Amino acid sequence: MKLTPDQLVQFDRDGYLFFPGLFTPEETQTLNQAVPDLYTRREGYNVREKGKDAVRTNFAAHLYSEPFAKLARHPRMIEPVQELLGEALYMHQFKINGKMAFEGDVWQWHQDYGTWLNDDLMPTERAMNVAIFLDDVTEHNGPLMFIPGSHKKGVVDARHDLTTTSYPLWTVDNDLIRQLVQRAGGKGGFDAAGRPIPGGIVSPKGPAGSMILFHSCLVHASGSNLSPFNRVSVYLSLCAVSNHIRRHKRPEYIAHRDFTPIECLPDDCLLQDYAVALPWKDGVPATALQTSMEEIAPKRKAA
Ligand code: SIN
Ligand code: MN
Repeated sequence: MKLTPDQLVQFDRDGYLFFPGLFTPEETQTLNQAVPDLYTRREGYNVREKGKDAVRTNFAAHLYSEPFAKLARHPRMIEPVQELLGEALYMHQFKINGKMAFEGDVWQWHQDYGTWLNDDLMPTERAMNVAIFLDDVTEHNGPLMFIPGSHKKGVVDARHDLTTTSYPLWTVDNDLIRQLVQRAGGKGGFDAAGRPIPGGIVSPKGPAGSMILFHSCLVHASGSNLSPFNRVSVYLSLCAVSNHIRRHKRPEYIAHRDFTPIECLPDDCLLQDYAVALPWKDGVPATALQTSMEEIAPKRKAA
């Protein structure tokens, strides 16, 4: 899938692109039906909401679940990021976020690259997120909120929040959020005829199968899900191979250590049989749980 010149301009300006309904209901169904089994597993790779049983994030399903292994090689997800970064990509992180009905908790304001830099020593922001909705996303079930253009600020100040939710994140404080939102258009509101006027926060909403691509420095958050409807979404965090992380402070199921370039499958891969490797099918290897604060040397390209 090739981006149009208009999409390239829009991505540069706003820091994200939204593709409503890019995947068909048949395609998303192959993914959706695999989620309940993954979420019931009592494994470290399932991080549950604070004090609850509901899964907040499932990590690394592309290494042990066939439909997600195919998604991790899907040309509609990989090719646009490859085009924007101009380089082969590896999978830095793969997550299926639950944001389950009534239980899904907030994601505080943050930039993903802040966490990748501070925890994983990823050298630059040459990495990107691409998300696919597995449920319809509406204003009711905790949609993502973006501050358009905030990626232009580069890496902003962040604080390691270890307590608010069950998942530690480098978060951005309210004063800076206020400034960034003001700069992006402020409060927004309604005109005299009651028509909405956009402000400095946007929330892409759409049917299951919609895709969002967003810059690793784009400041984003999401509210809790008080609705009776799940908001399951999958996030591929793709990193340019030359920009691979330099530290294994976090377990491998959170920050991957295999920097092999991703090779795409054909476009119909979610609906057809294609062989994919499932290296963690029989369990997570003990080495994946080992962590270290030591800096690792860059991997050199083969001559
Ligand atoms: C994230 O920012 O990584 C997740 C946010 C969400 O799923 O709402
Ligand atoms: Mn994020």
